Amino acid sequence: MKDDIFYYKDGELYCEQVPIRKIASKTGTPVYCYSYSHLVSRFRAYEEAFGQTPHLVCFAVKANSNLAVLNTLGELGAGADIVSGGELFRALKAGIPAGRIVYSGVGKTRSEMAYALKEDILMFNVESMEELEVIDAVASREKKKARIAIRVNPDVDPKTHPYISTGLKKNKFGLSIEQALDAYRKASRRSWLEVTGIAFHIGSQILETDPFVHAFEKIKILLEKLQSEGINPSYVDLGGGLGISYHGESPPEPEDYVSSILKRASGLSQTIIMEPGRAICGNSGVLVTRLLYTKKNSLKTFYVVDAAMNDLGRPSLYDAYHEIRPVHERPGADNITVDVVGPICETGDFLARDRDLPILSPGELLTVMSAGAYGFTMSSNYNSRPRAAEVMVRGSRFEIIRQRETYEDLIRGETIPQWED
Ligand code: LLP
Repeated sequence: MKDDIFYYKDGELYCEQVPIRKIASKTGTPVYCYSYSHLVSRFRAYEEAFGQTPHLVCFAVKANSNLAVLNTLGELGAGADIVSGGELFRALKAGIPAGRIVYSGVGKTRSEMAYALKEDILMFNVESMEELEVIDAVASREKKKARIAIRVNPDVDPKTHPYISTGLKKNKFGLSIEQALDAYRKASRRSWLEVTGIAFHIGSQILETDPFVHAFEKIKILLEKLQSEGINPSYVDLGGGLGISYHGESPPEPEDYVSSILKRASGLSQTIIMEPGRAICGNSGVLVTRLLYTKKNSLKTFYVVDAAMNDLGRPSLYDAYHEIRPVHERPGADNITVDVVGPICETGDFLARDRDLPILSPGELLTVMSAGAYGFTMSSNYNSRPRAAEVMVRGSRFEIIRQRETYEDLIRGETIPQWED
C-alpha cells in the first residue's frame, strides 16, 4: 500500500504526485515527508471496519505529533491518546475536542492532571493505586469529577521487541487483574471519581491478532466481574500496537484486527476505543537525506548522509530495519554493500547496516522508508543538530508543516549566568 503512495515514475521517487527531489530542493535535507492520502486511508480503514458499532479511534500522539497530522486525523473524527501535558496542548491546538482525548502514562503529574481536568478530557487511564489517590485529590481540589479507566496489565506476550512490549507482568505498565479489581472497588466509592472505562495496551509493532484477542478475552472476564458488583464502565480501550510492514512483514490489516475483536464483542454494551499510532502513520512518512561522502576502508563502505540518529533513532535504539531507496533510480548500476551512517560522533549512529544499494555519488538523495511513526517525535538536538523540517504532501501540492530549526532555536531559553565574584 505504501507503494501506491511512494513510487518511481520516470526514474525518480514520488510521494503522491510530487517528486521527492522537488521537496528536497525547496526545504533542504534532512526532511520528513508525510502523505496526506495515506494518513486518511489508514484512518478510514479503522473507521470502516467498525461500521455502525460504537467506537472511538484515538490516534496515539506520540507516534507523530505534528499539528498538521493531528488536524488531518481530527477532522476525520479521530480522538487522541496522550501521555503528557504537552501532547494535550498539541491535540487541543490541532482542534481535537477534549471529549475525544484519553490520557495514558505511568507518571502523570498533579499539574498535568489539573490541566486535563480543566479541559474536561474523556478519561484518565490510571496506571497505579498511588495515581488513583492523586487523581482523586486533584479532582476534589479542582472541584471537578475525574472520569477514569484502570489500565490493566493482562500479562499477555505480544511477541514483539522487548523494549516495546508493555503488557507483561515484568513491565512497568498497568495493574494486574487482581489489583485492578481493588482499584475499581476503591474508585467506585470515591465521589470525585467516575468509573468510565477499562483499558489495556500490550505493546507495539504486533504482527498477529492473537495477543490482542487473548488480552481482550481476559478483560471481558474482569468486566463481567465488575458488572456483577454494580461497576459499569462505558468504554473498553484496547490501546494501540498493530504493526506495519517495514521489511516484508505481513501484519493484519486494521479491518482484520477490528473484526477479530468485534466478533468477540457481541453482547458488549461498551463503546470500543482503539489507540493506533504506527498503524496509521508509520508508512505515511519517509525521511529524505542527502549523501555527503562515500568512505571506504579495507572492511566496509560507508555512505555518510546528512540525517543521523538524532533525526531517526529507531535503527540505533531497536536495531530497527528501515528500507532505504535512492531517490533517482539507477537501472543497471552496480550494487555495493554499505552501512548508511550519519555525522554524529557515535558508532551507534547508523540508519542501515550491510545494505545493498546502487553506487551513488555525493549529493544524491536517499529516502528512509516507513519513518512516519516514532521518527520526528523521537528526534533530538544531539550534537547541536537543528531538527529536520517536516512536509505534508497532498496530491500534487505540498506544504512545509514544520520549519527546519535554526541555530538560534538551538539556544532558545539558555542563559549564561552573570556571576558576581
Ligand atoms: N497507547 C499506549 C498506551 C501506548 O503506550 C502506545 C505506544 C500506543 C497507544 C501506540 O502504539 P502503536 O499503535 O503506535 O504501536 N518508540 C517505539 C514505539 C513505542 C510505543 C510506545 N507506546 C518504536 O519506535 O517502535
